[in-house]
Amino acid sequence: MSKIKNIGVLTSGGDAPGMNAAIRAVVRAAIYYDLKVTGILRGYEGLINGDFIDMDRKSVANIIQRGGTILKTARSDEFRTKEGREKAHGQLLKNGIDALIVIGGDGTFTGANLLTTEFDFPVVGLPGTIDNDLEGTDFTIGYDTAINTVINAVDKIRDTAESHDRLFIVEVMGRDSGLIALRSGIGVGAEAIMIPEANMGVEGLVTRLETGRKDKASKIIIVAEGDDMGGAFNVGEVLRKKFPQYDIRVSVLGHIQRGGKPSCMDRVLASSLGVTAVEGLLHGHTGVMVGQKSGEIVFTPFDHAIKHIDAKEMTPAWLKLVEILSL
Ligand code: F6P
Repeated sequence: MSKIKNIGVLTSGGDAPGMNAAIRAVVRAAIYYDLKVTGILRGYEGLINGDFIDMDRKSVANIIQRGGTILKTARSDEFRTKEGREKAHGQLLKNGIDALIVIGGDGTFTGANLLTTEFDFPVVGLPGTIDNDLEGTDFTIGYDTAINTVINAVDKIRDTAESHDRLFIVEVMGRDSGLIALRSGIGVGAEAIMIPEANMGVEGLVTRLETGRKDKASKIIIVAEGDDMGGAFNVGEVLRKKFPQYDIRVSVLGHIQRGGKPSCMDRVLASSLGVTAVEGLLHGHTGVMVGQKSGEIVFTPFDHAIKHIDAKEMTPAWLKLVEILSL
């Protein structure tokens, strides 16, 4: 019999579509297993400040389809300090919370790892980030929606690119990871994709454009925010000097990639992982992220989950695909 009677749930770091579906699943599963569930507002900030709300079946009604997070989110500097984490632990004890479910990305799990190791407090994590840059899950909650937002936006940009014979450089999110750029770039039929893992560089890009189709003036280049060339505007400046004949425009998609209704894939993933997180805690799992690999549920220790997916392994094959398909 588990001693857990009251589970706290929070979202932390950048919001991601599907976080609400995950919160709903956690709350409903907790109620199903006769547990109390406490919502913690604004991530670790709210945990430190005791910003808690009781949650029931109704408090998560009508949210499965909503983007963002009803619990709000934040990045907490105070939680990075030992004093901050002591305050947070004190609030958990004071409020009778026996275990925690955290929904977020690598920053969230770095904090969760410290909470479990320093205070031996039970924590299970759910992968909620549009970046898809966590080990231990094929996909993170929010990634599918984000890449679909990107392809919808770039399809529209392509209409203008074609009509005006323009070269568009489109910047997508991914501070440390090119996984949004890689998959959406293939999905939109980009001429080139620039990502932090591959460092194509100016020469690589120039060669690609010089050797590419001469009869097609409209081109789409997808640049991940974290690429070594420093973003789409820098790439634009370099290309303008090198190719004065091209009519070049830059478009930064920005935070539209983080918002909006979650896709069906994200809702289902969030729902399944949310229920499993509650069951995992009841079965004694702690210090782990729950993910899904090849359809199977996998528990991965936080310190392993936060090692960014080594996109390098898949990158060469995918970039080759881009080269072949952009002929
Ligand atoms: O959390 C993912 C992410 O979208 C990154 O790709 C991006 O660099 C970052 O968040 C930006 O977040 P914010 O604008 O909230 O600082």
